[in-house]
Order: sequence, then structure tokens, then C-alpha cells
Amino acid sequence: MVNRLVLFVSGICCMFFMACGTSPDVPRERIDFTEGWRFRLGDTPEAADADFVDEEWRMLNLPHDWAIEGDFSKDNPSGTGGGALPGGVGWYRKTFVPEKSDVDKKIRIVFDGVYMNSDVYLNGVLLGHRPYGYITFGYDLTPHLKWGEKNVLAVRVDNSEQPNSRWYSGCGIYRNVWLVKTASVHVGEWGTYVTTPVVNESEAVVNVQTIVFNETDASTQITVCSSLFDAENKCVAKADTLCTVGGGTDTITVQQLKVASPQLWGIEEPYLYTLVTELFDGDRCVDRYETPVGIRTFSFDAEKGFSLNGKPMKINGVCMHHDLGCLGAAVNIRAIERQLEILKEMGCNGIRCSHNPPAPELLDLCDRMGFIVMDEAFDMWRKKKTTHDYSRYFNEWHERDLRDFILRDRNHPSIFMWSIGNEVLEQWSHADADTLSLEEANLILNFGHSKDMLAKDGEMSVNSLLTKKLADIVKQLDPTRPVTAGCNEPNPFNHLFRSEALDIIGYNYHNVNVPDVPANFPGKPFIITESNSALATRGYYRMPSDKVYIWPERWDKPFTDSSYSCSSYDNCHVPWGNTHEETIKLIRDNDFISGQYLWTGFDYIGEPTPFGWPARSSYFGVVDLAGFPKDAYYLYQSEWSDKQVLHLFPHWNWKEGQDVDMWCYYNNADEVELFVNGKSQGVRSKTPDCLHTVWRVRFEPGSVKVVARKAGKIVGEKELRTAGEPARIRLTPDRSQLAADGKDLSFITVEILDKDGNLCPNADNLVNFNVKGDAFIAGVDNGNPISMERFKDTKRRAFYGKCLVVVQNKGKKGMVHLMAMSDGLQPADVEIVID
Ligand code: GAL
Repeated sequence: MVNRLVLFVSGICCMFFMACGTSPDVPRERIDFTEGWRFRLGDTPEAADADFVDEEWRMLNLPHDWAIEGDFSKDNPSGTGGGALPGGVGWYRKTFVPEKSDVDKKIRIVFDGVYMNSDVYLNGVLLGHRPYGYITFGYDLTPHLKWGEKNVLAVRVDNSEQPNSRWYSGCGIYRNVWLVKTASVHVGEWGTYVTTPVVNESEAVVNVQTIVFNETDASTQITVCSSLFDAENKCVAKADTLCTVGGGTDTITVQQLKVASPQLWGIEEPYLYTLVTELFDGDRCVDRYETPVGIRTFSFDAEKGFSLNGKPMKINGVCMHHDLGCLGAAVNIRAIERQLEILKEMGCNGIRCSHNPPAPELLDLCDRMGFIVMDEAFDMWRKKKTTHDYSRYFNEWHERDLRDFILRDRNHPSIFMWSIGNEVLEQWSHADADTLSLEEANLILNFGHSKDMLAKDGEMSVNSLLTKKLADIVKQLDPTRPVTAGCNEPNPFNHLFRSEALDIIGYNYHNVNVPDVPANFPGKPFIITESNSALATRGYYRMPSDKVYIWPERWDKPFTDSSYSCSSYDNCHVPWGNTHEETIKLIRDNDFISGQYLWTGFDYIGEPTPFGWPARSSYFGVVDLAGFPKDAYYLYQSEWSDKQVLHLFPHWNWKEGQDVDMWCYYNNADEVELFVNGKSQGVRSKTPDCLHTVWRVRFEPGSVKVVARKAGKIVGEKELRTAGEPARIRLTPDRSQLAADGKDLSFITVEILDKDGNLCPNADNLVNFNVKGDAFIAGVDNGNPISMERFKDTKRRAFYGKCLVVVQNKGKKGMVHLMAMSDGLQPADVEIVID
């Protein structure tokens, strides 16, 4: 039995001396446990045993995704929806020797995410099984450890039953792994909860709950010392609370810290404080734990939409899946940071973690970079979307998974709302409430309903009750943020809406129904949880550009177009979606809409709508899989950001005499004028109805140029020239200095140029790479959704003139030299410093 004593002490400093926040040698250590694992693809049940010999197995560092190393095949069970890459069962093993001097400590292993169905063994003892591939979980190793001797961790990962996802999941221990050492008296896992109940210009009240575990047999007196540090590492508030924690129990303390003239967390300046929690046994510090803190206020209003720190603003967000293109699902901080940098540059200020708990590193970055996050738990509940998906585990695991998800994430200032599900099939008003047996209903809902109550007309349906149950779990753990869900059915009969448990009405698409929201849901805030699903292939243009292609044409028939390409003018979208411009205008003109999360920021592997095989990755991104912006990126940049934008497209390599539609996205100018080989093609301006300008011109080789003017003065010019034959390669690294940490990356853009330095917009030359020095090629890509080339390779074809090579350091300082060669082209090279 665990006794809980709740103490409340307001923010006064303790009477005796303690160097809060400065103790150097406290026992908590969070050790990166990703190095030196052995891996084997295939089921090897004997590998659970401590004595199993794994010398022949491959040695690698985590995070690792074995699927991304494989070949595309239409026969892979994931199907094209899952990316057509392999699945299967894999085993990981790691040998380690815990130091005898740690014998009094508690040792826990934490997996940020394993896809999926993991079994973890220590020295042959099964520690636990976890089905959900996106959840963070851990086990106490202490009872089974052999101090000072060889110990073996073995992890079985089973992603053999597919499809289990509507997008690419990856396979393996694809997120980080940590070994956490603490004293027997310690702050619990996810053991602090920080809220800011009062925030004004002169003061903020920071509420801190801390859970202290005492894993000894004896009762002990502990002082919980909470110190808040500003970004300059100055202690701005502190509180100490003395508490008694019985042996084998835990205690929660509640403290209030007062911060004078608080610096607020915002999109432009995401100011972070750090809460340092220290536990003192007398004057001995026995634990030290850090929590990032952001002080901000926000509201979702039924009429005025979203406000942050008292200022109304639109959430200009994007949905993202978790894969990192050619790196697969394997987490890499720099790769996530690069995605966020590219999106931030576009003016994006929000991320929806669709449709599952993300890597913690993504949330850390969103805290630091300033994004409004919608954190999402599930893509399905009880009703399945793919044959082997999480619905199989929902009844047994949803409470645990939802709780752990909220507990892990609730201190992130970047999170502004929780989503309990995306397009769950339980929402539909025609979904039969009686598909559940009474027994099952009571099992998942946890309360005793009679069959009559469930079936009675006008009563809450099972599905509404389930919605309420999930929302209540969230509210119990975090009452400070609204709960929403990404729905489809846009009317009040939807079971999720009928539950009245959602604080924000959220639905995907259905732009035509949006104007009815205030009438249908009086008094409820609203957000477009997912929008557009516009389709584009970078570099591909289908004319006339004023014809809109709605693809796939029919749900029930396979759709093919021999191009396997979608037009990059904003003139192609799915039947349930819209063009980018349509949604931007809808949101601009309706104050009640809090904003949108457009589908999607980046292309992702899997779900190659509207096509089937050989297409194997999405067309939805405004940025392609390799990280190269498509044209719509500049539409958003012109509307969402203050950056000066003048983007003219497409390229200027066409058949002589052909009519070509030239589009321009711009801002901060009154008018734009187009010139073909110096001859004006007319002056145009955007209108509130049309957010781009267009000229239909006759192609003649040479130059096309746009000139932007404001108050009669030229404020920008952009010229595109007809490119000649491919002649040389240009390499442009995003960073040419990397940390020598074994993880840092350089993303190098490879372009095929003509002899005069013009990008060859149709070039598809095969480029070979060679690295000298302590680095390796972590992946290659070109953004082509139908390429069958491997992501883990040392060569790649250009796609519409470009490809990408990603170089990873090996943890040693020095100089790295990357060379790029292609038949008939002048090679290129670049140097990267590893420091
Ligand atoms: C939505 C769904 C997304 C994605 C998208 C494609 O309905 O929520 O996960 O499938 O459609 O258009």
C-alpha cells in the first residue's frame, strides 16, 4: 500500500543553509544507453537467455530502424500505405556491468519508443511487454541486477503482423534509451507537475507538485527544495518543504513559487525557465531533477479564436508524422530540428503530432523554438482501421497508455491542447452503440451500465461515454489544457461531440461546413485539426494551371495516372480536401477559427494517395521527403511570415512555342510585372480572392523575370533562365561544422547545373558519393515518391535537378571530405569540420 501525504507550503526559503540548485555530485544520472547493442533480424527466442552467444550479431548504436535499411517491395506486408518496406521480428541485446559501488541505488531503464510489441528481458527474466509502438515506458532493473558482473538486456521487437498502421511506422528500438540511476529516495518518474495559475505583468505564480518515492523500508524526513532559474541561470524563486515519507511509500508536495515580472513564453521568444528540484536528507542532496518551465497564458474562444498571452493570433500549424525521410523512424535530434527550422522559416507556428505520442526530443525542440503543439494519443480506439492495428490492444492498454502519455508530456510549455484521437471510427453517428457487448462496455468504460442505459434513445451512447472517459483521464492529470480530437463528421450528432467532453470542436477538412460551426456548436471554440490534403510532386507541373485535379477520382476504384505525379501548382487535392489557398482564405475571414494544422508539413513514407504501387510515400507535404520546399511552401511564407517573398515558378525549360503558366507568390509589394526576354507580359496584383498572380505566356528560350514594386519602387526581382545540358554538380551543406558526438548531421543539397550555373530542372543524373574522414553517409534521398532506390546507400539519382546526401559524424574530431561524382559531369566536393 502506498500512503500519500499531501503537503502545501508556500514559497518561502528554508531556514537552514542549502545550496539549492548547485549541488555537484548527486546520485541521479540519466545515462544515454544507446551505444553498443547487438542486433539480429529474425525471431531468436533463445536470445532472451543471459548465456546466449550473440558475437555473430551485428553491432550497432540506437536509435535504430531496420525497415529503412530494406528494399521496397509491393509484397512487403506493410503495403504501400505503410511504405512498402519490410517488417518482421528483431532482437536487440546489450551487455553491461553495473558498478558494485551503486549497489544502494535504483536503476531503471527507459525506452522512449519501440515499434512495436516489445518484450524486455534482463538476465533471462521477462520485465514486461508493451504493445503500443509510440509510448514511452520503463522497467526497474534493480531487483534482477548482478552487481559488478555481466548483465544482459534482451529486447524482442515484433512488427510482423502488418498492416498495423496507415503510414510508415519503422521497426525496432527507434527512439532513445536511458539508464536512470537514483538513490532509494528520489523524485518519481515524470515526478514533477508545473502549472502557472496566475500570470500577469508584475507576477506569475508557479505551482509545483513533486512526488517523492521512498524505496527504503524506513520512514525518512526529506526536504523538497524547488528553485526556479531564469535563462541566465539566476535563481528567481525558491521554496523548501520538509516532509516525511514512510518506508515503501510516496508523498506529493505542493509548492508555490512567485516570479516577479515574469518573462513570457511566446512564439517569437520562447522564454524558458528551469525548475531544479532537489531532495535533501539533512544537508545531503539525494536527488536533483530538472523540469523546463514556460510561463504563458492562452485561451480558445468561441468568437475570437486563439489568443496567446492576451494577443489574438491564428495557429498556422502543420501535421507531421514521425519519420525523418531517408533516416526512417530512427530519432535524431538534428534531423528533427532541421524539419522544424524549415517549417519555422515558412511562418509555421504549430505542430500536430499526428497521430501518436511523439519523440520527447520533438517536444523539447518545440519548447525551445516556439511552436503551438497539439499532442495526440491515438489514431484508433476500439474500431480498427488496418487489420492488425492498436485496436487489438485498446481495451487492455488505453488507460495505461493515455496516462503515461499525459504524465510524460504535461510539463512542455509548447503543448496547448491534447487530442484523444484522430478520426476514430467511434465518432460516426451511424456507428452502432450496441456493437459492444455489455460486458465489454463495462470493461472499457469502468462503470456499471445496464444494457437499457446503453441502448436507450437519447442517452449517451457507448462511444460518447468512452469519449468522456478518455477526456476525464486527461483532465484528471492535466486540467490546464483543453481536450480535443480530430473528427470527420462535422455535425453535433457525432458521438464525440455529443459527449460534451471535448473543450474544442476539432474536425478535419469539411471546409464547406465550417461556417456552420457557431450555429451548430454554440459557445464552443473551434479549430481545423487537419486541412487541405493538397497533393504535389516537387518540380512537376500540369497545365492548364486553372484546372483543378481532384484525385483519386473515386474511392472505390484504383486510381492511376501514368505520371505518378501531382501538379505543383496549387491545383491538385483529394476529394475530401481543398487547395491551400481556399483554406488560408477561410481562416483569414473567420475570427472564430483558431487556426489549422495542414496535412502535412513534410512528405512522409507511406500513404501515397492518390496512387498505389510503385508510389510508396506521400504527396501531401509542402516540403518533400528530402526536405526541399515545394512551391506551396512560398505561398504560406508569403501569407504567414514577415519575410520578403518573391517566388516565381515553374522553371523556364519548355518546348519552344508552348504556352506556360507562370505563377508568382509574393508579399510586401503592390504589384508584380513579368518579363519574357525583356518584354513585359503585364502587371498583376494579388487580390483577397486570389493569393497568387498568373501569366499565360509563350515559351521562348532565354529568361523569364518578375519584378516586384511597392509605391512605384522596385523592391525585388527574380529571374529564371533556360538551363542548358547538365555540366556540373553543386554541393550545399546546411551546416559545415558538426559536433563530434556521433549523432550530428550535415544535410547536403546536391544540384545538377549547366555550364553557366543554372539549375537543370529536369535532370535525373545518378550521383555517387564518397566520404573521407570520420563520418559516414546516413542516408540519401531526392523526394521522388516512386523511387525504388535504397535510402541507405552511397548513390542517388537527382529528381527534378536535386538530391540529398546526409553525412553523420562518428564522434571523432577532424576534417571530413565529401565528394560527389556523376558520369559526364564535373564532380564537386565539400569539407565539413567535426569539432
Ligand atoms: C485524413 C487522416 C490523415 C491522412 C489524411 C490524408 O483523413 O486523418 O491521417 O490519412 O486523411 O488525406
